[in-house]
Amino acid sequence: MSQSLKSQRDDEARAILARNDRGGYTVPNARVYPFQWNWDSAFVAMGFASLDEDRAWRELETLLRGQWPDGMVPSIVFHAPAETYYPGPAAWGTPHRPPTTGIAQPPVLATALRVVWEASREDEAARARLAGLYQKALAWHRWWHDTRDPERNGLTVSVHPWETGRDNSPEWDGPLAQVPVTVDVATLRQDNKAVDPAERPSDDFYNRAMSLVEEAKALAWQGKAVATRLSFRVCDLGIQSILIRADRDLLHLARVLGRRDDAIEIEGWLARAEAAAPRLVAADGLSRSLDLVTGRPLETITSASFLTLYARTATGAEADALAELFESWERRAPFGVPSTDPQAPAFEAHRYWRGPAWLVINRLIADGFAAYGKAKIAARIAARSRELVLKEGFREYFDPRTGQGLGGTDFSWSAATWLGWLSGELTHSRLTGA
Ligand code: GLC
Repeated sequence: MSQSLKSQRDDEARAILARNDRGGYTVPNARVYPFQWNWDSAFVAMGFASLDEDRAWRELETLLRGQWPDGMVPSIVFHAPAETYYPGPAAWGTPHRPPTTGIAQPPVLATALRVVWEASREDEAARARLAGLYQKALAWHRWWHDTRDPERNGLTVSVHPWETGRDNSPEWDGPLAQVPVTVDVATLRQDNKAVDPAERPSDDFYNRAMSLVEEAKALAWQGKAVATRLSFRVCDLGIQSILIRADRDLLHLARVLGRRDDAIEIEGWLARAEAAAPRLVAADGLSRSLDLVTGRPLETITSASFLTLYARTATGAEADALAELFESWERRAPFGVPSTDPQAPAFEAHRYWRGPAWLVINRLIADGFAAYGKAKIAARIAARSRELVLKEGFREYFDPRTGQGLGGTDFSWSAATWLGWLSGELTHSRLTGA
């Protein structure tokens, strides 16, 4: 890679994080997403980890100001008002201050905490910050394993497509079609005015998404009721895998801090989730998300299928099948990893989570392949990701066939992923020592 272009991108990435800083938290993108997002901030903290230790801790501490008394860490914390986003605080109507949404997002937080700790000086000051954040991360994981696993069977419930972080993935088409539509919010949307509507979810999607918000409001956002009564309930393979991995990282931190009882509790969660993993494996040997309302697997294969590697729950046979799948996708979409199977009828190369490649997911998938001894694939994912940034800059997502940059520009998590993963010299870097 050209050194001058590389160092130009390094500078740009740092400048994006500085520009998107709102005093202790980083907005994903100033125009489209003017608040603090949950998993974005976890990736941003991992980007800051080796650059600015204090700022890395602060990103997570600020996110946790939004944590609910029951442990939930909401998808968005509305620290300060902004007119350019819908649905804002009024549309969510949750009781929390600062205002937040009422749903979660993929729990990358504990993994980020471990990354930040391991990049820190590991001195007394760092240990104190770790201990404070660890306690909150533990409460967050308890919420997932308690409130969001109402049957205690190791399968976590997600109640909203936005909660999965992969908003309009074709996996959710079937379950969303069962959601009764009670509102029409087409004219309230802002996202499709800032970005080409062809690259954004449809109005029908937004109407269903906001109908679900109304269902939850009618339940006064009561955690257990929401988890068991919303008309959209899935076990998202993305969340499921990210949570298992984050449990492993939390367990590591419990040991670092000498919390023996916590460690036993976390081991219990892991045992339950590992026992449940085969329930997500379909006849072709690949894992899928599950519709918990109907009990049926969600057929379309998406990039979430690769995350069993990241969770370390894939068997050797599944890892081999995933390597084969990856190579078949690569032939059709060399600038991957595509978010949806490029051979599926639902694949759309430009529409958000229905096809485009996302750098943050690439990082998780590369980490998984590397852990299963598939270093060449991991290195190819990193090399392609690097190429995308060098060619197109810090876009929100990319056309996996051509590499064209799509969605918003100056994206924080893309910049952070560059700094924390791609800009380094290694062909692949593990997220942590796990
Ligand atoms: C979109 C993405 C979501 C992300 C957010 C902020 O809603 O689907 O995953 O957290 O933007 O970047």
